[in-house]
Amino acid sequence: MRLLVTNIAAIAGIDRERRERVEGAAMKRFDTLSDAWLLAEDGRIAAFGPMSEIGELRADRTVDAGGGLLLPSFCDSHTHLVYAGSREQEFIDKINGLSYEEIARRGGGILNSADRLHAASEDELFAQASERIREIIRMGTGCVEIKSGYGLSTGDELKMLRVIRRIRDSFPIEVRSTFLGAHAVARDYIGRQTEYVDLVCREMIPAVAAEGLADFIDVFCDKGFFTVEETARMLEAGAKYGLRPKIHANELDVSGGVQVGVRHGALSVDHLERMGAEEIETLRGSSTMPTMLPGAAFFLGMPFPPAREMIDAGLGVALASDYNPGSSPSGNMKFVVSLACIRMKMTPAEALNAATLNGACAMGTSRDFGSISEGKVADFYITRPVPSVDFLPYAYTTPLVDRVFLRGEEYCG
Ligand code: NIG
Ligand code: FE
Repeated sequence: MRLLVTNIAAIAGIDRERRERVEGAAMKRFDTLSDAWLLAEDGRIAAFGPMSEIGELRADRTVDAGGGLLLPSFCDSHTHLVYAGSREQEFIDKINGLSYEEIARRGGGILNSADRLHAASEDELFAQASERIREIIRMGTGCVEIKSGYGLSTGDELKMLRVIRRIRDSFPIEVRSTFLGAHAVARDYIGRQTEYVDLVCREMIPAVAAEGLADFIDVFCDKGFFTVEETARMLEAGAKYGLRPKIHANELDVSGGVQVGVRHGALSVDHLERMGAEEIETLRGSSTMPTMLPGAAFFLGMPFPPAREMIDAGLGVALASDYNPGSSPSGNMKFVVSLACIRMKMTPAEALNAATLNGACAMGTSRDFGSISEGKVADFYITRPVPSVDFLPYAYTTPLVDRVFLRGEEYCG
């Protein structure tokens, strides 16, 4: 199957070197080619070039981009989009003055979602998550990581992970799966946190590994959740089964999460609202991708992560949506890019690199996803006609993603 796209005002996010990540000053480049065509063959990008040199190209299907831009699909490396119901009551509680931590201490928050998930069948969960998947595909996401973590018992964690597997098998979006049994201490274990950590290490991790349900392991290493020592124990237990860490760190406090993540070879450390100079120094020279979730800082009214300091220190950074019912009920990556520009002073080019190639890197998929490069999977979207690439984050609520192509085929779901 050969798909030819013509009449593209500009292809953006081109990477002829096919790098696996971009760092520091290199993040400022998001290369473009004006007045272009692109050819995909058998689901991969075969070639692209200027319209003036299109010559005689044979294709099974030709699509006229109508003068829109063509960009690589977003790679959203941190979501919790399998969940039951919603939590707008807590949204009201927050408006009335309660903090995220206070709501959690009262037994709301993650435990609220765990109760709802327990009551939902696998089919119901799949139906609800499928709606969210269709929504994010239509908004331009082509590659997504999804976490468990609303199960908090072996049976319910497996239920969530099976739903993630079903999503992976049912949609053309690329999915990576993360086991997050240590998202919170389950209700039955409150006051017995060490026993809950034992359960994660001795029962949950072996059961998840036995069914091959997870690519990665995550721990919420933060004030009021899991300590650095507990995190280290669980990451070591996961490592025995080949589960590489991607962890929640430094959202509520300077928690030591960055250091424990880097020490255990984490693929990414995520959130990073509370960072010091030491944390940035720890990340320099490591292969761990610092990942920021500005939707959560926006929704919870937290400080935004120090993106400028990190990039200016030479780090590569990724952006993800954190799509979840408590701290970021949105998977809109275009809005995440806008927030990064508006609130974290990232340039549009830096933010788009962070939401595509570096996002893919943060879930181990950047060899095949995250940029317009010959040989990579043909995942891209075409925008409505716009004046420039910078217009995308500038017009921060306008839905500009017009047509979506995954694995070389148009998504019409
Ligand atoms: O990334 N911080 C921990 N976990 C999620 C929130 C989960 C929830 O509140 O349901 C997050 O923000
Ligand atoms: Fe999260």
